[in-house]
Parts: sequence; structure tokens; C-alpha cells
Amino acid sequence: MTRFQDRVAIVTGAGGGIGLAIAKRLGSEGARIVMADRSTDKAKALTPEIEKEGAPDIWVSQCDVSIEEQVEATVQGAMDRWGRVDLVVNNAGLMTFKAIEDLTTEDWNKVLGVDLLGAFYFTKHAFRRMKPGGNIVNIASVHAVMTSPLVAPYAAAKAAVLSLTRTSSIEGKPKGFRANAILPGAIDTPMLWENPNIKSGAEKIDKSDVGRPEDIAAAVAFLGSDDGAFVTGAALDVDGGRLAKL
Ligand SMILES: NC(=O)c1ccc[n+]([C@@H]2O[C@H](COP(=O)([O-])OP(=O)(O)OC[C@H]3O[C@@H](n4cnc5c(N)ncnc54)[C@H](O)[C@@H]3O)[C@@H](O)[C@H]2O)c1
Repeated sequence: MTRFQDRVAIVTGAGGGIGLAIAKRLGSEGARIVMADRSTDKAKALTPEIEKEGAPDIWVSQCDVSIEEQVEATVQGAMDRWGRVDLVVNNAGLMTFKAIEDLTTEDWNKVLGVDLLGAFYFTKHAFRRMKPGGNIVNIASVHAVMTSPLVAPYAAAKAAVLSLTRTSSIEGKPKGFRANAILPGAIDTPMLWENPNIKSGAEKIDKSDVGRPEDIAAAVAFLGSDDGAFVTGAALDVDGGRLAKL
């Protein structure tokens, strides 16, 4: 399939885990890819993998998504290179693990800066430049609607990302833009296995409830392509049914 022929997609946090799978999938369908990651060494080392999937062109942009100037430079850099931005996938994310009694303002600012403001900055600067057909896909989490102990800033940030997605879809509609969110469940990446709640056994996950990064990439390819033309403001669970359980 070449649903992204001639299109340009920015994927944040593309230097690993889910972001890499998204970059590969969009590249395999013809997209030119901007890998926006704070760690460019990792991202650069991975470009051959994305090229192998068929991506016609790749640009690695050093970008801490919590710094607005770097976000604007990334979006403008794509415009300067290719004259268009069609899709932004706000995927970069991080977590902290602390009880509410121990959380500091710094902890909150760090998580909200990446997980919420990063998505806001990219939406803002993409909205200023995209043509009708422009598209935003925000990678939220099942923690946006149900959660576990020790991750208050993460859960709050992801819930706010759903709200940002709704506002983006409403404000984007007259401009011909769409915006949707995906709520991944447990996905087999370093972020999952480094989670202290999982390591300690406090949060148990059945093997059948663990998805692959490619499962999220497939949902992004649907929402990000014309197949999702009538879908905007939606929140799509991609969690193997975890949220549906009692
Ligand atoms: N893995 C899961 O089980 C799971 C579940 C639900 C949601 N998610 C969400 O999916 C997204 C990707 O998660 P993952 O599991 O692939 O994580 P990961 O830790 O494997 O990869 C995250 C990537 O984001 C990059 N990144 C982190 N902070 C950044 C910043 N400030 N600026 C730019 N890049 C930055 C990292 O360098 C890394 O390449 C995140 O938003 C996460 O919250 C993951």
C-alpha cells in the first residue's frame, strides 16, 4: 500500500519503541519521515531500518519536544526540505514513578512538558503551516482513563492529551485538519519493562495483554491516512481489550 505517497510525516520519539515502528510503517507506505527525538545518535543509527522498509527520504531532527523553539525548528525544517507537512504523530513520552506525597513541582513539569506540552507545541506549529488534509495523531495511553499507583503526572498528562485532541479536532475542522488519539495498552517496549510497577509485580500483565509496537503503528497508519477521512476527535483503544475488563 502507498497511502502516504508524496506525504511528509513527523514522528516524535522515533528513536525507539513504538515511534520506530510508526516510522517504519509510514515509510513502508511511501511517507517521507522526520524522526524527531532528543537522542539523535539513536535515531540516526536506525535510519537504515526505516529505509529498508521503503521510506523515500528521512530527516533526523534533534528535538526535545518540551522546548517550543526546537519543535518549531523541526516543523519549519520539514517545510524547508519538502515544502509540506501532512501528518504529525505525537509519540514521545516519559513517566515518573513516585507517590503523591513525594512528587515535586519539577517532576510534574518534566512529565507535563514532554507528554502534554510537546503535543501542544507540535499541534500549534503544524496548524500554522499545514494545508487542508493535515493530520495529527496523539499517542496517549490507557492511563488517560484508568490508572495505577505512582504515576499521577503521567496519567494526568495523558488524560489532558485526550482533551487537547478534542479541541484540536474542533479547531482543526474548518481548516481541513483532523486530530485523533490512540490509547495503547501494554506494548512490548523498554518503557513497559522498565516500569517499576511491572518489575516489582505490583502490576501484573498477562502475556496475551501485551501488544507489539506494530499494532500501534497499524492504527496510526489508519488514522493518519485517507482511510480515516471521517474520523476526527476520536480516542481509539489499542489494548487487546484490557480496558473492557471488569
Ligand atoms: N510501551 C507501552 O506499554 C505504552 C503504553 C501506553 C502508552 N505508551 C506511549 O507510547 C509512546 C511511546 O512509548 P514507548 O514505549 O515507545 O517508549 P520508549 O521509552 O521506548 O521510547 C520513547 C522515545 O521518546 C523519546 N523521548 C523521550 N523524551 C523525549 C523528549 N523530551 N523529546 C523528544 N523525544 C523524547 C526517547 O528518546 C525514545 O526514543 C509514549 O507516549 C508512551 O507514553 C506506551
